Amino acid sequence: MNSVLITGANRGLGLGMVKYLTKNDKAGNIFATCRNPSEELTKIAAENKKLHILRLDVTNIANIGEISAEVTKVVGTQGLNLLINNAGVTTKFTKLQLVKAEQLLENLTVNSIAPIMLTKSLLPLLKQAAEANSDKPMGAQRAAVINMSSILGSIAQNDQGGFYPYRCSKAALNAATKSMSIDLKKDQIIVTSMHPGWVKTDMGGKNAPLDVDTSVAGIFNVIEKLQESDSGKFLQYDGTELPW
Ligand SMILES: NC(=O)c1ccc[n+]([C@@H]2O[C@H](COP(=O)([O-])OP(=O)(O)OC[C@H]3O[C@@H](n4cnc5c(N)ncnc54)[C@H](OP(=O)(O)O)[C@@H]3O)[C@@H](O)[C@H]2O)c1
Repeated sequence: MNSVLITGANRGLGLGMVKYLTKNDKAGNIFATCRNPSEELTKIAAENKKLHILRLDVTNIANIGEISAEVTKVVGTQGLNLLINNAGVTTKFTKLQLVKAEQLLENLTVNSIAPIMLTKSLLPLLKQAAEANSDKPMGAQRAAVINMSSILGSIAQNDQGGFYPYRCSKAALNAATKSMSIDLKKDQIIVTSMHPGWVKTDMGGKNAPLDVDTSVAGIFNVIEKLQESDSGKFLQYDGTELPW
């Protein structure tokens, strides 16, 4: 891949993705966006000229437009191959009797609205990459969008209830994935929702069975193998297809 942009790249899975890409020399340019760069991310950037840290609160719609300009300065006419909408939030205490409108709004804003608006803003760059690599089949080498979802966003697999803000926001993100996959097919851009597994991060907690490195290696293994028929699917980090 020539270029990858990852949101929420200062910690958790996003930082794990940056580490994986830099360690394995998988991308020409990596754009790591975050609200505040962590010490670890800053250190990797200091040692790696391919890594560009861009400040972005994904809820700041005005700022989203500036990201496209920053990326263009680096990639020129080659566009952006891969956008990973990874930044996300979840809210505790979300039983029906306790859920608050503000929690629903915050989760929807970060987990559903922001990925849609960022994809919209970066679409010209994704199209440019798809065109610039028209000799290649559809896939991440050409142009792809990964929306980092969750199994908790699956309506079919919901047998526990609760988690209103998170479940609703990830189900909405999944709906956006499906629409984008249809709308962007003509532009040869793949759009897929992914579940990273239950992973040891601040969000996943220490009881999670998977470590970040295992999840991230699986995620990129899936991404590298993406083909046209995977667009509009919901895939787990190990490649298993999940029900909507
Ligand atoms: N861990 C799991 O078990 C699991 C399972 C299923 C799905 N996921 C999904 O995987 C993705 C990454 O999760 P994670 O486990 O790495 O979570 P995490 O450790 O809590 O990290 C969340 C990341 O999102 C960023 N973020 C949150 N709000 C933001 C905003 N308004 N603007 C910019 N960045 C923002 C955070 O940045 P700050 O440091 O600035 O807050 C942080 O970098 C999320 O979409 C999550 O829903 C995770």
